[in-house]
Amino acid sequence: MTTRHAGCLDTVFLSPQDVARIVGRQGLVPTLQALAACIGEDFLRWDSFDKSARLASHSPEGVIELMPIADARRYAFKYVNGHPKNTALGLSTVMAFGVLADVATGLPLLISELTLTTALRTAATSAVAARALARPDSRVMALVGNGAQSEFQALAFHRLLGIDTLHLYDTDPRATAKLMRNLQADPDAAGLRLRAFGSTADAVRDADIVTTLTADKTAAAILTAGMLRPGTHVNAVGGDCPGKTELHADVLRAARVVVEYEPQTRIEGDLQQMAPDFAVTELWQVLAGEKAGREQAAQITVFDSVGFALEDFSALRYLHATAQALGIGGTIALIPRLGDPKDLFQLVRPQAMRQGGALRSGHPGHDAAPINTGITTT
Ligand SMILES: NC(=O)c1ccc[n+]([C@@H]2O[C@H](COP(=O)([O-])OP(=O)(O)OC[C@H]3O[C@@H](n4cnc5c(N)ncnc54)[C@H](O)[C@@H]3O)[C@@H](O)[C@H]2O)c1
Repeated sequence: MTTRHAGCLDTVFLSPQDVARIVGRQGLVPTLQALAACIGEDFLRWDSFDKSARLASHSPEGVIELMPIADARRYAFKYVNGHPKNTALGLSTVMAFGVLADVATGLPLLISELTLTTALRTAATSAVAARALARPDSRVMALVGNGAQSEFQALAFHRLLGIDTLHLYDTDPRATAKLMRNLQADPDAAGLRLRAFGSTADAVRDADIVTTLTADKTAAAILTAGMLRPGTHVNAVGGDCPGKTELHADVLRAARVVVEYEPQTRIEGDLQQMAPDFAVTELWQVLAGEKAGREQAAQITVFDSVGFALEDFSALRYLHATAQALGIGGTIALIPRLGDPKDLFQLVRPQAMRQGGALRSGHPGHDAAPINTGITTT
């Protein structure tokens, strides 16, 4: 690690613009493919991780969550919120940042934006699950909820799964118009047919895959079992906290249900409606070949996605490696570099430091205010 801040150890810092630059250099589709590969690899190392359900702090308007996870080398956490009414205030429903740290020392290696990254990793995770659960001949996907996450899901399913037609519905027609505009202008969406519908029922009628991406803090049942054709795969992304669901319980009863991490999904997923003994399969078991994914062409499958810390761990390790390889990002002065690590007091008594020679000799800036808390970008 190079030191650019006098008196501090550097932590790599990635802003949303830095992550957008990484996506621009790599290409959006290769980024989704790389994230899907990292997520798949990490799900296959399931037993290497120290896992827990995320810690949620609820309020009437939303939720703020901390999502920690670690393997033997790296520790990661994400801070993320979910406030469905935020868009009326000009703020995103979902905003996030995260940290990747070294387990051997506890040193934070990376602090990164995760708002854009959450959309990328969620779409990549949905694609990983759909590869195992959707019928391989799936071509038509309904996308219900056309907000911030929707372009990423659309492109992941078009380019990684072979979806060639999207049926769109949102209670806010402006959101659907925005999604259509963005996709019509995007070269990665070439060949993708788009049709807007006036209701969820109409949008899902002829779909092979249904992705639900709505944000409403209520026990909603936007999808009922009668709306689904045999053989449909449901990628349920928006029901992700207590009291916030998208699927009628009958959809789950009619389906083979796959989840990320069962203890968390029982609390937060559409699964929260079901009895504690309602059978589910964890995604890693399907990816590892320990349990079946789709068993027959006519089966309805549901990926009851809530977002698990492992996916952010995968994204953070990908961003850390890629940012360094491409020379993108800056550093942030977060952790003091001390001449004597037992003498933290030197930070608040610079005079005493000079007299006692507590700083490492020759370290720049030690006779001025030693800590630079600014951020440099390269
Ligand atoms: N599972 C995960 O890993 C994961 C990751 C990110 C976001 N999410 C969740 O996905 C959802 C979407 O996130 P976003 O960032 O796109 O939010 P957003 O607010 O930008 O978009 C949500 C859209 O849903 C629409 N909507 C609300 N109720 C609807 C209904 N009944 N029918 C159709 N459309 C409806 C809204 O009009 C809005 O356009 C949120 O609930 C969020 O918490 C889950």
